[in-house]
Amino acid sequence: PGDPQICPKRCVCQILSPNLATLCAKKGLLFVPPNIDRRTVELRLADNFVTNIKRKDFANMTSLVDLTLSRNTISFITPHAFADLRNLRALHLNSNRLTKITNDMFSGLSNLHHLILNNNQLTLISSTAFDDVFALEELDLSYNNLETIPWDAVEKMVSLHTLSLDHNMIDNIPKGTFSHLHKMTRLDVTSNKLQKLPPDPLFQRAQVLATSGIISPSTFALSFGGNPLHCNCELLWLRRLSREDDLETCASPPLLTGRYFWSIPEEEFLCEPPLITRHTHEMRVLEGQRATLRCKARGDPEPAIHWISPEGKLISNATRSLVYDNGTLDILITTVKDTGAFTCIASNPAGEATQIVDLHIIAAAHHHHHH
Ligand SMILES: *[C@@H]1O[C@H](CO)[C@@H](O)[C@H](O)[C@H]1NC(C)=O
Ligand SMILES: *[C@@H]1O[C@H](CO)[C@@H](O)[C@H](O)[C@H]1NC(C)=O
Ligand SMILES: *[C@@H]1O[C@H](CO)[C@@H](O)[C@H](O)[C@H]1NC(C)=O
Repeated sequence: PGDPQICPKRCVCQILSPNLATLCAKKGLLFVPPNIDRRTVELRLADNFVTNIKRKDFANMTSLVDLTLSRNTISFITPHAFADLRNLRALHLNSNRLTKITNDMFSGLSNLHHLILNNNQLTLISSTAFDDVFALEELDLSYNNLETIPWDAVEKMVSLHTLSLDHNMIDNIPKGTFSHLHKMTRLDVTSNKLQKLPPDPLFQRAQVLATSGIISPSTFALSFGGNPLHCNCELLWLRRLSREDDLETCASPPLLTGRYFWSIPEEEFLCEPPLITRHTHEMRVLEGQRATLRCKARGDPEPAIHWISPEGKLISNATRSLVYDNGTLDILITTVKDTGAFTCIASNPAGEATQIVDLHIIAAAHHHHHH
């Protein structure tokens, strides 16, 4: 009703009553046409030569539901460029030249269900970039150069059913990422740099895992081939899932290098308990000086080292003491009260090892005069 519809030059505009579609795919466009009817519901701009998106391009398009910008040459999107699109359900930006997703790029897209960003050159997604797109059902970030993604935001996407992260450089997925994502049916992390996957109840409900093919609605598809899997006891949970044989291989430990994941018996997924290989035995230090206590351990996975003070307290970084990842404890300015037996604890999922380090602080001479 009301004003007659306007249609940009070269585009085709269809009224699929009551909806308006503006079809501008493959029209040789160098920018988003300025005179698109603001009431349009579907806007197709794929296969053009658009290089950037400006704030005004989609201003006031509050009816827009479906926006396709695939296969352009977009490398820049102005912050808040999609902010008026409160009804947008699907945003296709695949096969463009985006290198970064900045904080306000997707602001306002609170009803977005499908965000398709595969085949760009993404190396970075800002930590709050996905804060507004919590309603996503599908997120496709495959074929980019990402080392990490904002996992905190993903954790909150409770409607998510498909997460495609394949062909990136992701080396870690934090434990608990999928705890609340009960609708997930497909996770693809093929060809990344993952040495392990965090165990998650989500994966436990997977009955059949398949790299490709038809998935029945009750099953969960997990694809993780092409990762440098470290096949120790931490991956035993994954090995125990039933699945069709596939071609995933182990990269390490040395005994399992190159062997097919699903053909290795469970008993061979081994961890090694920690063994403390080097440590300070005893140390004498003048009061006020620095004391550096060392403790080194090996094991599989790499043991974590903790220190316990003579009073039995776990030592953490503080003004006077530093605990390094390599196991070294530095007490920067010692006092006589530091004298005592410190305990180094090395631990990993296979066990624990401890050693005692005796520290003697020798009271400085000037203190004796005062006593
Ligand atoms: C959007 O709407 C505002 C307020 O009605 C108007 O001032 C502005 O020119 C419109 N922008 C576009 C690009 O249509
Ligand atoms: C303590 O601080 C040091 C130096 O800043 C850092 O390398 C180390 O990772 C910190 N340790 C912990 C347990 O946070
Ligand atoms: C551990 O790391 C700290 C800080 O990087 C360094 O000063 C110390 O020499 C290291 N210790 C060992 C045993 O490698």
